[in-house]
Amino acid sequence: MRKSLLVLLLVSMVALLAACGGGDKIIVGTDAAFAPFESLDGEDIVGFDVDLLAAVMEEAGLEYELNNVGWDPIFPSLKNGSIDVAISGITITEERKQEFDFTRPYFESTHMIAFYEGTDIQSANDLEGKIIGVQTGTTGQFAAESIVGESNPNLQLFETTALALAALKQGNIEAVVTDIAVASEFVKNNPNDNVQLVSDAENFEAEYYGLMLADGSELKETLDTALSTVIENGKYAEIFQKWFGTSPDVESLLN
Ligand code: ARG
Repeated sequence: MRKSLLVLLLVSMVALLAACGGGDKIIVGTDAAFAPFESLDGEDIVGFDVDLLAAVMEEAGLEYELNNVGWDPIFPSLKNGSIDVAISGITITEERKQEFDFTRPYFESTHMIAFYEGTDIQSANDLEGKIIGVQTGTTGQFAAESIVGESNPNLQLFETTALALAALKQGNIEAVVTDIAVASEFVKNNPNDNVQLVSDAENFEAEYYGLMLADGSELKETLDTALSTVIENGKYAEIFQKWFGTSPDVESLLN
């Protein structure tokens, strides 16, 4: 009698915990080595994505926690449910859409080539024969590969974009292919260096970032609605202004 009561008590406690604590907080994953979207300031993760996420979650009335899980782990973590959402300057691609869901787009991007004065790069085709750095598993890698070919020994893969840019600064590689705003941030943060940026509309297409979710995630609708509201009510423009110093083209984002 006593034993069964105890078991009952335990079972209901576990159920209560699962109902209250477990399910409620949304776990968001990121790779905080991609300024100005997400980077570490001491222990804090800061950036455009971080502020946008806060605005969207507030609008949606959801409690969340942002974790710096790293780039590669984002994908399996969404699949195995250890994170519910990822925000990390993630480009919405056809390949990723086969396996994941995305919210509506929140940022337009393209690729840029960053290099130092003295390296002769006028267009993406000049990447041929240069030692190039990219972050593994990013659209920057795929863009570079479309020029120089897959598994080209001149193409060096880095775990983070920050590490690729550090290698460029040290002179270990000649060029980095990365997202436009990240390349511009590198220029801004190295004012005494002769960093050059080249874009190439012919080879590097426009792409859009979205929040990434597990395939079939129930959060999609809620987040889409909140994101639209934040874009329409001016909060998005405020955050954009803070991180990029200009006004966003909200019209094109909403179309
Ligand atoms: N936009 C690119 C992609 O989706 C690069 C994103 C990298 N983001 C990051 N936080 N490291 O592949």
